[in-house]
Amino acid sequence: MIEILILYYSRSGHTKELAREIQKGALSVKNCETKLRTVPPIHANDENNRNPDTSTPFVTKTELKNCDGLALGSPTRFGTIAAPMKVFFEQTSDIWLSGNLIDKPAVVFTSTSSLHGGQEATLLSMTVPLLHHGMIILGIPYSHNALMDTKTGGTPYGASHQAGSDNANSLSIEEKITANALGRRLANAALRLKGPKL
Ligand SMILES: Cc1cc2nc3c(=O)[nH]c(=O)nc-3n(C[C@H](O)[C@H](O)[C@H](O)COP(=O)(O)O)c2cc1C
Repeated sequence: MIEILILYYSRSGHTKELAREIQKGALSVKNCETKLRTVPPIHANDENNRNPDTSTPFVTKTELKNCDGLALGSPTRFGTIAAPMKVFFEQTSDIWLSGNLIDKPAVVFTSTSSLHGGQEATLLSMTVPLLHHGMIILGIPYSHNALMDTKTGGTPYGASHQAGSDNANSLSIEEKITANALGRRLANAALRLKGPKL
């Protein structure tokens, strides 16, 4: 069995919707289990004093260390990763030192309010700490027609969603297809990479 960690931060639920689609894709692969996890907000008062997500447990560093593959999600904030997720990663130097994530596959996902508000910039910036950890970054290949057909999210760099200025949009069919495909690809890669060493 392999275990895929789907780790996200989400204040109003859109990044979480993508996380669930990635989870469905991963679970469609035989011998794959998943863990859905989040991180705490860092300034409770600035976050309207509410936990953004009471239904998902906070991740532990052991869960990150032991995963066979990682899907990392964050809403776009000023074109980059949200601070709570960055804070979590800044506490992972011991995992970096031990090399536990080296040669494990990873994918990234994000949600924005506007179409050109930084989805790709955020996705690419989220790959940087994962590359420092030695992870193998996977995207979504253009063999998925949804990448050409989408009018909202869904990029070759990772899964994405455009939530709209009032955060009212649900995931489009293309956003679901690409998120699903990314989860499946991650799980398949993790299975192959964990296989017997030659
Ligand atoms: C501080 C802050 C910065 C944001 N920056 C951007 C941005 O650069 N581009 C954009 O399109 N949306 C931006 N947004 C909107 C969020 O990315 C958008 O609402 C997203 O769908 C929220 O995801 P969530 O529902 O998972 O929290 C920002 C929101 C906040 C609170």
